[in-house]
Order: sequence, then C-alpha cells, then structure tokens
Amino acid sequence: MIQIAPSILSSDFSRFREEVIALADAGADWIHFDVMDGQFVPPITFGAKLAADLRSAVKTPFEAHLMTETPERHFEAFAEAGCSRIIFHAEATAHAHRLAQQLHGLGVQAGIAINPATPASAVEPLLGLVQLVLVMTVNPGWGGQAFIEATLPKIAAIRATSDVEIEVDGGIDPQTIGPAFEAGANVFVTGSFLAAATDKREAVHALRDRCAR
Ligand code: DX5
Ligand code: ZN
Repeated sequence: MIQIAPSILSSDFSRFREEVIALADAGADWIHFDVMDGQFVPPITFGAKLAADLRSAVKTPFEAHLMTETPERHFEAFAEAGCSRIIFHAEATAHAHRLAQQLHGLGVQAGIAINPATPASAVEPLLGLVQLVLVMTVNPGWGGQAFIEATLPKIAAIRATSDVEIEVDGGIDPQTIGPAFEAGANVFVTGSFLAAATDKREAVHALRDRCAR
C-alpha cells in the first residue's frame, strides 16, 4: 500500500502544531520526525518532547527517524511520546538485530535506515525482523537536497527478496517518486516539496498519482 510520510524538517519550527495539523488534513499516512543529534549528522533538530507535545494534535501515526549516535538511548522516550515506528541507522550501531528486538519490546515497529554509501546487503540479515527499511535517497542531515538516482538499485535489490515496507527519504517530489515506486518503494517521505506547496492536499494527490502501476 502506498503511504506518504511528510517530514516536518522543512516546516516552520515556530508553528509545528499548525503545520502538523495541515499535513494530517492533506492526507498524510505518517508524520516523519527527523531527529538529529549534531553528531551522527551536523545539524541538531528536536527531541521526543516535540512528538509528545504534538501527539494529541492529530490522529496520524508518528514515526521517528533517529539520525543519532547510540540510537537506543532514545528508544524509550520516543515510544513513550507516542511514536508507532522508530527508525535507526545501520551505521550507528554494531547491534542492529538486538536494537530491533528492543523496539519490539517497547511495542513499536522497528525500521532500519541505510545511507547512500551503505549497501542493501547490510540489512539482509534483518529482513525477517524489521517492519521497514528506510533507503536514504539523499545524504542525511538536510532537507531540500537532490534525489540520488544511484540508490534506486538498492531499493530493487531489497524488494526482490522481501515484501518488507521500503521507505525512501530525501528529494522525493512528483518527478522522483515514480522511479522510486517502480524500483519497489511503497512509503515516501517528503519534506521540502510539501512545505513549499500552497495546496498540500493537491500535492499529496500528485505524489500518489505517480505511484499507479
Ligand atoms: C534528511 C531527512 C529527510 C528530509 C527529507 O536527513 O531524513 O527526511 O527531511 O527532506 P526533502 O524531502 O526536502 O529532501
Ligand atoms: Zn528522514
């Protein structure tokens, strides 16, 4: 099933509540929280309290994309905040299998993210365990970057061996969502495209329309 997961990274940080309500009203399937710790990636964004304070604003499920070192330090806080899915980076731990089990122990879906330079084979041992693989289609840390086409074969390689949810994240707009969908992705993060859209409902429809086989 095609799912659109808008990121709030490109939203106005002084208006998160209104922005999240607008994304939910536009038909978002998930709200994607881009958590950055200034170590795993240079910028710092926000912590679990933001998700907790926004939880009551909309019914739309929340997912936390942890672009952090030692992601397991943050699992409990984001689960308590009401995130239904927590995604950590394969590059941030030597124990991805155990961390996925830890997330299941907290009652949340486990997602594993891989950066553009990380091969699809890095997640192969986790395909029977995690609910989602996040294939970064930009280098993490910033919104508004160009889609990296070289990541498409990784999506296809994972889709060829598993029906796991495959999410793509970075540079997704009406021009790039089609190739990502064709390669096998089914969950689409979009930040700057939607942030710039005057009619967000129309923009979400435009993205979904390009995922028709
Ligand atoms: C980048 C984040 C992405 C980013 C997507 O590190 O993980 O979610 O916000 O933003 P756009 O859609 O603007 O590339
Ligand atoms: Zn993200």
